[in-house]
Amino acid sequence: MHPSWPDLPPERLHRLLRAMPKAELHVHVEGTLEPELIFKLARRNGVVLTYASVGALRAAYAFTDLQSFLDIYYAGTSVLCTEQDFFDMAWAYLERAAADKVVHAEIFFDPQTHTGRGVPFATVIQGLEHACRRAHSELGVSAKLILCFLRHLSEAEALATLDEALPWQHHFIGVGLDSSELGHPPEKFARVFARARERGLHVVAHAGEEGPPEYIRSALDVLKAERIDHGVRCIEDPDLVARLARERVPLTVCPLSNVKLGVFASLARHNLPALLDAGLCVTVNSDDPAYFGGYLNQNLVETFAALPVLNTRQAWQLASNSFDASFATDSEKTRWREALDAAFARA
Ligand code: ADE
Ligand code: ZN
Repeated sequence: MHPSWPDLPPERLHRLLRAMPKAELHVHVEGTLEPELIFKLARRNGVVLTYASVGALRAAYAFTDLQSFLDIYYAGTSVLCTEQDFFDMAWAYLERAAADKVVHAEIFFDPQTHTGRGVPFATVIQGLEHACRRAHSELGVSAKLILCFLRHLSEAEALATLDEALPWQHHFIGVGLDSSELGHPPEKFARVFARARERGLHVVAHAGEEGPPEYIRSALDVLKAERIDHGVRCIEDPDLVARLARERVPLTVCPLSNVKLGVFASLARHNLPALLDAGLCVTVNSDDPAYFGGYLNQNLVETFAALPVLNTRQAWQLASNSFDASFATDSEKTRWREALDAAFARA
């Protein structure tokens, strides 16, 4: 149970949201690639972009649904060629995360987006891992990697990617499932996830973002997912909500992403308060912050500003959930929870 912190006026609450230590569990490193860095890497690598300027590229970020976003997001990754490029992208995110008081980040990467263009898996993982290692020593941020399979590609391609990745298993902690959800149910990847679990990897999956509640059930039952990424459509199925609460399955919710991709009409209409009220282990995350208008603190502050029912207790609960739901060690979780309580005691 959480302590009953008194409600704070908006300005103090927003300051506390920014200052509190937190974990980010749902961020795609390719979704942190800012337009300025896209143009810098394009120049460095001689890649020709179809947009004339940073402003023109940003102006194209008007999405109607998940697929309209993914088309631009995959195009942006064409500038990533060398180990240094992957390092620079991840390092920029980690510096930004540290400024938001993120003490632990579990970061998704999509190797198939790069190996499909001829970039070796080793180039991708070594650049990203170097940034994670340096973040720990220089920023005090614990950073881990989760390899995501692209669900619009075949099971055979996912299996080949896993085989290619396993020699690098010491550099990532788990596997996930992302990209176009509708028409690509979790069961398509049952054997891939079984093999990953046999190797001792953690497993998570995007489900119930655009897809129906049944996809959340099959992510749990077939893939044995330990966390559900998004999962907001669970609310359509009360039995599923009861199960998620009973089994304490975390949902990594991404409010700004959900609004930009049309999952909710506005932040004021987001179901985060209902999910918390149902007793679910919900966390707030940024998904693809370079595309959706904000990093983690922006997600928290804008969501709380739009939903006045959320106050100090929910702020504490979300940060506490982020540690509970992480794959960090018990001693790390204890240390971060103490820091969390200290931040609230000071507020
Ligand atoms: N890849 C990057 N962002 C994603 C999202 N929100 N849903 C599915 N796949 C993604
Ligand atoms: Zn995502």
